[in-house]
Amino acid sequence: MSVLVTGGAGYIGSHMTYGLVDRGEKVVVLDNLTTGNRGLVSEEALLVEGEVADQALVKRLVAEHAVDAVIHFAGSIVVPDSVAEPLAYYGNNTVASRALMEACVEAGVKAFIFSSTATVYAEDARQPLSETEPTIPISPYAKSKLMTEWMLADASRAYDFRHMVLRYFNVAGADPAGRTGQSSPRATHLIKRAAQVVLGRVPHLDIFGTDYPTHDGTGVRDYIHVSDLVAAHLLALDALRAGHASSTFNCGYGRGASVRDVITTVEQVIGRELPVKESPRRAGDPPTLIADPTRIKETLGWTPRHDDLAEIVRSALEWERRFNA
Ligand code: UD1
Repeated sequence: MSVLVTGGAGYIGSHMTYGLVDRGEKVVVLDNLTTGNRGLVSEEALLVEGEVADQALVKRLVAEHAVDAVIHFAGSIVVPDSVAEPLAYYGNNTVASRALMEACVEAGVKAFIFSSTATVYAEDARQPLSETEPTIPISPYAKSKLMTEWMLADASRAYDFRHMVLRYFNVAGADPAGRTGQSSPRATHLIKRAAQVVLGRVPHLDIFGTDYPTHDGTGVRDYIHVSDLVAAHLLALDALRAGHASSTFNCGYGRGASVRDVITTVEQVIGRELPVKESPRRAGDPPTLIADPTRIKETLGWTPRHDDLAEIVRSALEWERRFNA
């Protein structure tokens, strides 16, 4: 029995792969290495370079490695890029996921975990966001993810195929053991960018928008440590294997930090000021995204262990130093 992790050479997927091998699971990573990094993949996993939409390849991997569950991370994740290149996002996220899902159904995989996003919710939905709030995605990125959620729901009704949708809030930080972290050279994540500024690789941090309807005018997000997110996936995997019905869960801590709050935390961690520049809003960015994590806590027994912005920032900085060394 093994788990197929798509996008396992990427930021979250590589942490997931460690999380799985650490508990003795066999893992096959499928990644086309366009943004992924071979060096982040645990040596205990098998890395296969290829496309998730290559149905013959997926079916062969499922058969050869007795894959019983798929965790699907591969995809494009940058909200503003999706506004500029919507068809690329629909192709790489929605269309490729459809092909992967079909290959899984045909190959007899019954458990599927999908990386979705907090940005599927309507902009005027009630914060903190529970899973029952209306979904009205703004960006093509969020739409590409929600369409995949819909396909999964229909597939689960039609076939012997159950899924878990995990709607991620803002994933940040790095493996506490220092084995992997966020390595994309074109990273756009706030905490990753801040770490690059700290190390002097980027001259200043842009604050994208200071006129949002938030406590200090800057965007508010629910930053969740990647290790807690991996733990949520492990619980979702166990639940699916035990026969749990298809479900959707928010993954966040239930508290928001603004861009300025993050900057203050970074400054406290490094003990000096961070050079910043106030810039216009970035296309497609909603003002506030805060999770209500009640459902995942009550249903799967998820207990966050790293709910501390300073710890998240420290681990991101440690990784950034190691990665650049
Ligand atoms: C992130 C994820 C997205 C996920 C979403 C869920 C990435 C690249 N994006 O998007 O996939 O669905 O969380 O909530 O992982 N900001 C700045 N300056 C910067 C960078 C960001 O001010 O240099 C601001 C943004 O405007 C935003 C906040 O910081 O208000 C967070 O931005 P970012 O880290 O890019 O994540 P999201 O766009 O929220």
